[in-house]
Amino acid sequence: MAVSYKDLGFVNTKEMFKKAFDGKYAIPAYNFNNMEQIQAIITACGKSKSPVIMQVSSGARKYANPILLRYMAQGAVAMARDAGYDIPVALHLDHGDTYELCVSCIESGFSSVMIDGSHHSYEKNIELTSKVVEYAHKYDVTVEGELGVLAGIEDDVQAAKSIYTQPEQVEDFVKKTGVDSLAISIGTSHGAYKFKPEQCTKDENGVLVPPPLRFDILEEIEKRIPGFPIVLHGASSVLPEYVEIINSNGGKLKAAVGIPSEQLRKAAKSAVCKINIDSDGRLVMTAMIRKVFQDKPDEFDPRKYLGPARDELIKMMMEKNEKVLGSAGNA
Ligand code: G3H
Ligand code: 13P
Ligand code: ZN
Repeated sequence: MAVSYKDLGFVNTKEMFKKAFDGKYAIPAYNFNNMEQIQAIITACGKSKSPVIMQVSSGARKYANPILLRYMAQGAVAMARDAGYDIPVALHLDHGDTYELCVSCIESGFSSVMIDGSHHSYEKNIELTSKVVEYAHKYDVTVEGELGVLAGIEDDVQAAKSIYTQPEQVEDFVKKTGVDSLAISIGTSHGAYKFKPEQCTKDENGVLVPPPLRFDILEEIEKRIPGFPIVLHGASSVLPEYVEIINSNGGKLKAAVGIPSEQLRKAAKSAVCKINIDSDGRLVMTAMIRKVFQDKPDEFDPRKYLGPARDELIKMMMEKNEKVLGSAGNA
């Protein structure tokens, strides 16, 4: 049976983005697919008084089971209220690839959907995105579109190279589709290996420093669609301290490089109103679980390794909200 996000306690992203734009910060969009991630997102954003977008990929939805996921997400809002956290929470479909998937999510209580038509031709992207917008807006659900392709894996599609967003297309795309926000490609990419070592320089500690994001393209886009909310995907920093814990506890993540925090801070002050973070959370959890396994090989109670992973996730997310995105205190 169809359910409205309004009855579940979620909000769409309209008001959030307006405040984020005016206040020069970005809303964190954290991916989840299990209970510990939900607990961490709500606790971290509740404690730091940050608005939040909880997002779910189609793979995550299948993994958790779509029905269970809807109740898990509903539980997240109930948990927040019970803890006294008065924060706006949106439930968002990440990288929706079909109209049918978007409809299904809207019917099961999502307040926002992304239709990622970036791998299609420009015309097909407009056609598909417009169709989703037409349906979503009937239910006051907000829609994120995408122009340009990020390198790496975007759901099942692999792109070897970034195709930067062409600023000349954004105004036409936004006008023709009616989207509420636009994901762009300015040099970020998905996953833990965003840059090849040969693309990077080294700092004084030997840490790989990637080439800067294309802020010139972002500025050009801002000029063409003033005041319009921009979304940055592939924005994990691939925090070196967690890569280090993983590798010193049996892992093998070689030459993993992400987006430096200062670059994200700069982006958050611009028209970028939503910053997507998934890989950093995966790395935190993997690091803590590996550490427990290494330190206590006789441990077999999942709460004893998922618990520390969850607690560290809370710490990492609070730091992002406070020091990188600037969303803390803006609920
Ligand atoms: O952008 C992709 C997100 O990190 C979700 O990844 O499709 O493996 O759940 P996933
Ligand atoms: P990361 O892989 O950099 O965390 O990006 C996540 C993302 O863009 C989800 O849509
Ligand atoms: Zn993404």
